[in-house]
Amino acid sequence: MSLPDGVERRAFDGEERLATRGTPVYGEPTDGQWRLWDARRSKLGAMLELGMDTGLSAEDRVLYLGAASGTTVSHVADFAGPTYAVEFATRPVRDLLDAAEDRARLFPLVKDARKPETYAHVVESDLDAVVQDVATSGQARVSTLNKQFLAEDGRLVAAFKARSEDVTADPDEVFDDVLAELREDFEILDTERLEPFHDDHLGVVATPK
Ligand SMILES: C[S@@+](CC[C@H](N)C(=O)[O-])C[C@H]1O[C@@H](n2cnc3c(N)ncnc32)[C@H](O)[C@@H]1O
Repeated sequence: MSLPDGVERRAFDGEERLATRGTPVYGEPTDGQWRLWDARRSKLGAMLELGMDTGLSAEDRVLYLGAASGTTVSHVADFAGPTYAVEFATRPVRDLLDAAEDRARLFPLVKDARKPETYAHVVESDLDAVVQDVATSGQARVSTLNKQFLAEDGRLVAAFKARSEDVTADPDEVFDDVLAELREDFEILDTERLEPFHDDHLGVVATPK
């Protein structure tokens, strides 16, 4: 499995962990300029830790959906190119703005990911990747609505939370439904459950049809 340039495995307390170079954001351990990327706090971190081929590369242009307080998107902006971070809840946005202060390529957008028309004038098209972690109902629909920003060979790198769709259903059945909906607009390249880092989440890498 290849990590994107700018993401390395480095020793923290004698254990090899993912790390990127940047200012700390969430109290994570550091080693010089490097800061630990905690897979237990980041679904994308878990996908990389589990060896999924996300296709992400240094300097990629990225739309990140569900940025929250910036835990994961700050790591993305450490290695990627322009990174547009969409989050609709105002509470975590102050921390997201703090993370963006030290990162010239991180652009927070207080927007609803179900309304791409409200940020289409700001976000570039032909992006290399849409990274999604919205943990809300209708997660596949969010992917489909934002497909318009992707280049033909761009990638959707998404984490789907079963309980956000249906708290009582068997997660495998929820994921089957999510994948069936995604297949209408995307070719699925890879899927993997994110245990032991995140229970009842499915990591998906896909490319537009
Ligand atoms: C699991 S948290 C994201 C954690 C974050 N990705 C990280 O790893 O640092 C999900 C976030 O998605 C946001 N969210 C849910 N639905 C959204 C929508 N329609 N538009 C924008 N943000 C949304 C929530 O407010 C929440 O902050």
